[in-house]
Amino acid sequence: MAMTAPAPAFPDTSFAQTAPPAIEVRDLVRQFGDFTAVDHLSFAVRPGEVFGFLGPNGAGKSTTIKMLCTLLQPTGGGAFVNGFDVTRDPARVRESIGIIFQDYSLDDRITAEENLRFHSMIYHIPREERAARIAHMLEMVNLADRARDKVRTFSGGMKRRLEIARGLLHHPAVLFLDEPTVGLDPQTRQTIWTHIHELRRRVGITVFMTTHYMDEAENCDRIGIMDHARLIALDTPAALKAGMGGDVVRLRTADNSATADVLAREFGVIAREEQGMLRFEVEHADTFVPRFLRHGQIDVRAVEIAPPTLNDVFLRLTGHAIRDEGADGNERLRAIMRRRGGRA
Ligand SMILES: Nc1ncnc2c1ncn2[C@@H]1O[C@H](COP(=O)(O)OP(=O)(O)O)[C@@H](O)[C@H]1O
Ligand SMILES: [Mg+2]
Repeated sequence: MAMTAPAPAFPDTSFAQTAPPAIEVRDLVRQFGDFTAVDHLSFAVRPGEVFGFLGPNGAGKSTTIKMLCTLLQPTGGGAFVNGFDVTRDPARVRESIGIIFQDYSLDDRITAEENLRFHSMIYHIPREERAARIAHMLEMVNLADRARDKVRTFSGGMKRRLEIARGLLHHPAVLFLDEPTVGLDPQTRQTIWTHIHELRRRVGITVFMTTHYMDEAENCDRIGIMDHARLIALDTPAALKAGMGGDVVRLRTADNSATADVLAREFGVIAREEQGMLRFEVEHADTFVPRFLRHGQIDVRAVEIAPPTLNDVFLRLTGHAIRDEGADGNERLRAIMRRRGGRA
């Protein structure tokens, strides 16, 4: 992306407030027959922001991202990306974005460099600029020394990094990533995130991504929580957790239902059973728990007190844990392939 002015040394909020949004979504709807996959979404993403959609499998994340990338027509409402209307001006939207999708899309049989060269031709990058851009992008994702190696020999994390390099080759202003780290191990996922933050710092790009990993959503400046086609919350991870207004307590007890009765009757606290433990939220666990433990009629074996996580936020908002609905189908398939030693 061409940078006309030097990047400010600190986040310039006055700019953020006056600059047009990188993505603006108004009442966006997508139906498949009678089924509503995306139900009246409205939100805006600021230039330079790393914005994430968090939600379980089937929430409508990919359908949203496909509409923003002009790969799917909205059935209602609309969206602007880099100021271009996704329905009226799809070609200009596409020129101004990079896309990295959930499904693997590199050619394994050719080298990293050849994959990027192919992409640079599709995007009409001037011939004389291609080699330098490819070298620069490979360096940015730490793959410069593997440029001439066949992609087949790369690990899952290296392939994802190469896809990110490819998505950035034509200097998009907004990068879309649909579940960019699905199926990767936690350490590789963290490396990918380091690269995404580095990119934002170096090229000032806006990132819109989706994930169903709670911990991963922590890497975003703001997250929209999506469930059953609707956006049910939108804020910074810190503000979402602060909105819980307290701590999460888990108890291992000799008798969960008797303890839950005491909690409800004597303390007005509603607990629910989760993986054999009783879980509840209180404002000040440090004073509540000792007071509760002094109560005569309970038998508590272990206590865990933790600040709320995004998983707790999701549970509070939806009444179910994000993993209730099972792992993503592709992820499950990749795990099976890995066990069989196939391509994953
Ligand atoms: N082409 C399609 N035809 C019918 N239903 C679809 C189609 N694409 C997605 N859906 C449905 O829309 C819902 C949301 O899907 P998706 O956007 O892929 O969710 P997510 O990416 O959050 O897992 C799912 O119930 C899915 O089965
Ligand atoms: Mg999806």
